[in-house]
Amino acid sequence: MKHISLGTPNPKQAEFLSDTHRYVAFGGARGGGKSWAVRVKAVLLALRFPSIKLLIIRKTLTELRNNHITPLSELTNGFASYSETKKELIFSNGSVIRFGYCASSSDLTQYQGSEWDVIFIDEATQLKEEWFDQLKVTVRGVNDFPKRVYITCNPGGVGHGWVKRLFIDRIYKEGEDADDYSFIRSLVSDNKALTDKNPDYAKQLASLPPKLKKAWLDGDWNIFEGQFFEDLIDDPAHYSDRRFTNVIEPFEIPPDWNIYRSFDWGFSKPFDCSWWAVDFEGRAYLILQLYGSNGVPNEGLKWHSDKVFGEIHRIETEHRWLKGKKILGVADPSIWSQDGGEPIIAAADRHQVFFQKADNSRIPGWMQVHYRLAFDDEGKPMLYFFNTCKHALRTLPLLQYSKTIPEDLDSDQEDHFADSLRYFCMSRPISPKKATKYILPSADPLNLLSSEKYKPFSY
Ligand SMILES: Nc1ncnc2c1ncn2[C@@H]1O[C@H](COP(=O)(O)OP(=O)(O)OP(=O)(O)O)[C@@H](O)[C@H]1O
Ligand SMILES: [Mg+2]
Repeated sequence: MKHISLGTPNPKQAEFLSDTHRYVAFGGARGGGKSWAVRVKAVLLALRFPSIKLLIIRKTLTELRNNHITPLSELTNGFASYSETKKELIFSNGSVIRFGYCASSSDLTQYQGSEWDVIFIDEATQLKEEWFDQLKVTVRGVNDFPKRVYITCNPGGVGHGWVKRLFIDRIYKEGEDADDYSFIRSLVSDNKALTDKNPDYAKQLASLPPKLKKAWLDGDWNIFEGQFFEDLIDDPAHYSDRRFTNVIEPFEIPPDWNIYRSFDWGFSKPFDCSWWAVDFEGRAYLILQLYGSNGVPNEGLKWHSDKVFGEIHRIETEHRWLKGKKILGVADPSIWSQDGGEPIIAAADRHQVFFQKADNSRIPGWMQVHYRLAFDDEGKPMLYFFNTCKHALRTLPLLQYSKTIPEDLDSDQEDHFADSLRYFCMSRPISPKKATKYILPSADPLNLLSSEKYKPFSY
């Protein structure tokens, strides 16, 4: 007789594995052992009910492969075989686990019309409510197998609202029965397997800005509102508990620091061109900015593309920090699109202002900005802004969380500098700091706050 070794669940996972509600949600925080629990529950059902039909959904195929297809194929080796064409794991007892991704409405058509006994949706908060509604009606059939939907979730994502309503707030519409819904809260601290193997993981979560930390470490669902960059400290005098700052007086840029340029084009709004100096430790300084507005967003309309790039070229050939430098540029990928006329990038080329396409992923990009804004134990962030860059400092603190994608920012606002900043940060990604301390004895260890002068490499 062959044996399969599924491992030992932690107490929260054990609750999940034995929960028989029609809709079971597991999670609340990062790293709680959710994907593990999905895999194990799927195998247990497949072995217990020969010929059962199971579907595991994840947003993208890559995530599906990494989290489920590969580990499940390994786990069930000898009991089941995987068909790549069908994306199915077929057990020798006739049970089937089908793997599905769902990144857009059209992906859903793959699963409609079919019948499933149990569906698992890993990271359900990445899915829209209408997709969930379409998926859940495919759980049906005339056999006696259990009919259930298991989901895992973290606060945030396009599905934040519906998951919170059904499983946290427990507010139900007509046709939804409160008794059908169960929520098991799991935190990273519940997952000993992870905290033993990777003790830094919780520390990394702890170094996030307060709201994200409350969401991803504490599993708090009520936090995504108000100022998006709450971790930007523009003037420590405004805070009783903060001594350090991201905003400094300009100083002379050492000639051998690298210079970068980031660009966001405003199709109907302002544009931003930001220049960054990077020191030998990878610390970035926003040193100069050209912005197509002076507080009135539509002022940007006055700028046509040739004027913008002509001006950028002029600044780069004349300014003492920039002239003669090899400047690496990243720009909003949409300026490559043609849309009938000449793409904006053609005007940039005409003026010898060259760009690479920026990585435009929003949430990873904002995480990079947060990582850079955070202060290390000596009070140094990886990102400073010269206080002369007025549009950066005017717009950044005003930005608010999005109402629809909770951990994103509301893009109806004046977010051009923020986007440009994000492109820059994504071009030079860093790891999060281990710890963030705001209260330290010395007010300004770099002595940068008061320094107008060129301070070479004394820090
Ligand atoms: N009971 C267990 N026994 C052994 N390893 C486990 C167990 N539970 C979780 N793990 C391991 O801990 C790590 C994190 O678990 P998992 O990926 O399931 O967490 P998660 O909640 O899905 O995380 P995320 O929020 O990042 O998606 C993985 O390496 C997983 O294999
Ligand atoms: Mg997971």
